Amino acid sequence: MVLRFEKLAENHLPDVLRIEAEVNTAPWSERAFRNELTNPESCFLVAIVDGQIAGYGGYWRCIDEAHVTNVAIDPPKQRQGIGRRLMLELIERAKEEGMTCSTLEVRASNEAAIKLYEKLGYDVVSRRKRYYPDNQEDALVMWCHDLA
Ligand SMILES: CC(C)(COP(=O)(O)OP(=O)(O)OC[C@H]1O[C@@H](n2cnc3c(N)ncnc32)[C@H](O)[C@@H]1OP(=O)(O)O)[C@@H](O)C(=O)NCCC(=O)NCCS
Repeated sequence: MVLRFEKLAENHLPDVLRIEAEVNTAPWSERAFRNELTNPESCFLVAIVDGQIAGYGGYWRCIDEAHVTNVAIDPPKQRQGIGRRLMLELIERAKEEGMTCSTLEVRASNEAAIKLYEKLGYDVVSRRKRYYPDNQEDALVMWCHDLA
């Protein structure tokens, strides 16, 4: 498996939108992804496996904090370590850009993502009640206080 990462670009959008519709019950709009192309505070990557887009993820730079905004892997490509490699790449870039900590929100029922983040050093620090408007689900707020 040859895995590489590229900054999100216009030509990635059709694949990214297809994956997003498959994995997310409240998918980001095309406009939301387009915002990542131009937002100067955004780092947004696609993971390319053997020439095909297998997933994507990104963060916003908030001073010394990398706020992870979205992470997803195409269902047929899940459970092959790509999500972990993508997160490690995002963390590496955040460190290179001077960020020292990172936070994210995750649905309380999303065991796969919670496990992935815990393995990378994020801890659950609080809960936002009924954060997700589509099903009123709570969000867990996770932090990694020391990216190093
Ligand atoms: C969460 C997600 C990004 C994980 O990506 P992935 O490439 O499948 O994850 P990896 O193969 O790198 O797994 C890394 C670790 O995460 C955990 N994990 C991943 N998928 C899991 C699952 N279905 N069940 C339990 N643990 C899981 C495991 O601890 C795994 O390590 P292991 O395989 O050695 O046991 C992927 O499931 C996904 O895209 N889900 C839909 C979108 C989503 O929920 N995004 C997160 C929003 S906050």
